Amino acid sequence: MTTEEEQVVTPWDVSGGADGKIDYQKLVKEFGCSEISEELISRIERCTKTKAHPFLRRGLFFAHRELDEIVTAYEKGEKFYLYTGRGPSSESLHLGHLVPFQFTKWLQDAFKVPLVIQLTDDEKFLWKDLQLEDCRRLARENAKDIVACGFNPETTFIFADASYMCPSFYVNMVKIAKCVTFNQAKGIFGFTGDSNIGQIGFPPVQAAPSFPDCFPHMFGMNKKSLKCLIPCAIDQDPYFRMTRDVSHRIGGYKPALVESRFFPALKGESGKMSASDPTSAIYVTDTAKEIKNKINKHAFSGGGATIEEQREHGANLDVDVPWKWLNFFLEDDEKLKEIGEKYGSGEMLTGEIKQILVDVLTPMVEEHQKRRALVTDEVLDLYFNPKKTPKVFLDLFREYEEKEFGKWEKKVAGDSGDDDDLCKALEEKMKLEGATENEEGCAIGAPKSEDWLRIRKERMQQDAPTEGSKSALKKAAKIKAAAEKKAAEKAAKAAARAAKEAAAA
Ligand code: TYM
Repeated sequence: MTTEEEQVVTPWDVSGGADGKIDYQKLVKEFGCSEISEELISRIERCTKTKAHPFLRRGLFFAHRELDEIVTAYEKGEKFYLYTGRGPSSESLHLGHLVPFQFTKWLQDAFKVPLVIQLTDDEKFLWKDLQLEDCRRLARENAKDIVACGFNPETTFIFADASYMCPSFYVNMVKIAKCVTFNQAKGIFGFTGDSNIGQIGFPPVQAAPSFPDCFPHMFGMNKKSLKCLIPCAIDQDPYFRMTRDVSHRIGGYKPALVESRFFPALKGESGKMSASDPTSAIYVTDTAKEIKNKINKHAFSGGGATIEEQREHGANLDVDVPWKWLNFFLEDDEKLKEIGEKYGSGEMLTGEIKQILVDVLTPMVEEHQKRRALVTDEVLDLYFNPKKTPKVFLDLFREYEEKEFGKWEKKVAGDSGDDDDLCKALEEKMKLEGATENEEGCAIGAPKSEDWLRIRKERMQQDAPTEGSKSALKKAAKIKAAAEKKAAEKAAKAAARAAKEAAAA
């Protein structure tokens, strides 16, 4: 039973416990995810040869599901793809929304992997008092802010549900939907008899992009061509808990997750950043003057009520919003440490830390606005166009298939440059060496070196489902039988050779 004191964290509702705060440790336990260890961060730094993003090294992205497995596979030479998203319900993003997108950009650059971004215009239509046409328009508006975070059009595919829904996407959704009962959905998402049936049916829409065959133009038609890593705040966890529960049954890998804390509302952690109260948040459209006013007038302070009190006791950093926000957006670790010490001890005053925050956020937001102004409809189309994106993988996986790359590039670039050529070239590319009918393709441009093929085959055998649809089981049995036959043939050959050698001796 839910009491007033219980914290609530769902994709649509976030509120703290009795003290208004979110107890993240409790969430990790309840949800069953793991905390990100120092050791895992070091492994990420080693294999990407990149210093961890401040969000990671400061524990702001603090929880995960099988991120370690993604890193282990990456260390062995396997790639993965990133998947994140936004529910377009307002004209512009607030600073909290920038958190997952800035982090995703860092992950994409560090790991050099492709990215898909889902805009759930349908979700917002189903949940909010908005017309579908408005949600579709907002999806494009929000996409401009997402693009302004600096994603490379060559490696990023953005799609809005109401426009992109294609057969392979729908097939995944239907398969997922069949695996989840209404009782389970009620347990995971808190649906009631009053929920409209669109809401009840929505979770598979957000689950499906966790499987690469939702994007045949990018990753081929094989559900196991690439593993998926999802960066988001922890409110999205229920969607992917459900996805991970059904993954095996539909023949896919469980998506991995890397999850963040919430960027707190301006008026304090227990408050909510809400579009209906513009003073509760800073938006990426705010002017320098608005930023300054909002911080000075509304940022919740943990500092002393008077200068004397602050000098004597120092600030309570646990509740101080300017301090918390600097933890997200001030990059310089040394400076941050110094501010924490001085402000916490009373050497620094509330007005001073607020000014520092203004000085950090104003250029950040202004830069964002400049980049956003460059995102014309033509630029946006580069991200939304499924026909153009495959080219990216040539670059991504260049190091694995230098030889083929040349051939492929020539074909794609072909004189006519028309779409037919691209499609033909794509089809070619999607044919996996030695692929059977059941195994229609692999990630376009994904490493096809001996190593990669071996890893992939081994994984397909290892991960063969033990439960699920008849056809999945039949396929698994076929793969297993083929592997056993090959092993038996190898053993027989070795035995024959040994016998021959023995006879000769
Ligand atoms: P939405 O639009 O509510 O939020 C977009 C992303 O921002 C994160 N987020 C925050 N992160 C830090 N601090 C905050 N205060 C804060 N508020 C929101 C959200 O966790 C999310 O990552 N249903 C989703 C859209 C979606 C999606 C996805 C998100 C579709 N597919 C895959 C993540 C991954 C939504 O409405 O997000």
